[in-house]
Amino acid sequence: MVKTIAIASDHAGFELKSLLKSVILEDGYQILDLGTESTESVDYPDFGYAMADAISSNKAECGVLVCGTGIGISIAANRNPNIRAALCHDVTTARLAREHNDANVMALGARLIGTEVAKQCLTAFLETPFGGDRHAGRVRKLGAPPV
Ligand code: RB5
Repeated sequence: MVKTIAIASDHAGFELKSLLKSVILEDGYQILDLGTESTESVDYPDFGYAMADAISSNKAECGVLVCGTGIGISIAANRNPNIRAALCHDVTTARLAREHNDANVMALGARLIGTEVAKQCLTAFLETPFGGDRHAGRVRKLGAPPV
């Protein structure tokens, strides 16, 4: 079955989102685009929360978030305990987010990252499997924070 990748951004991330969407489609995945639809100003938490809902309800296997820095939108998504959103800056952070943290969402900062590096991050995020083993128990703890 074709994997569905959710993608969302605020206005600052809209252009990079459009570019990454075409790469995702070229690579043969399905896309669930959660907005935004233009560069008109919006609030990044709305899109982080929409991503968290989509992943939590199994509408997509994993997701990509983009805002100006990647910070605000990843904070929003990470408020849901099912989400492990990793803010990535290069291919190494994207690869290790998958290998060690089993990240189910990658966040990028459109105002900070070049388009070629963003594409490399996307490929690493989509193609790197979780390492399991010693990382598995740690990742399990992320879903069950102490109360
Ligand atoms: C929008 O100006 C900007 O604050 C937002 O895209 C993001 O960088 C927030 O973390």
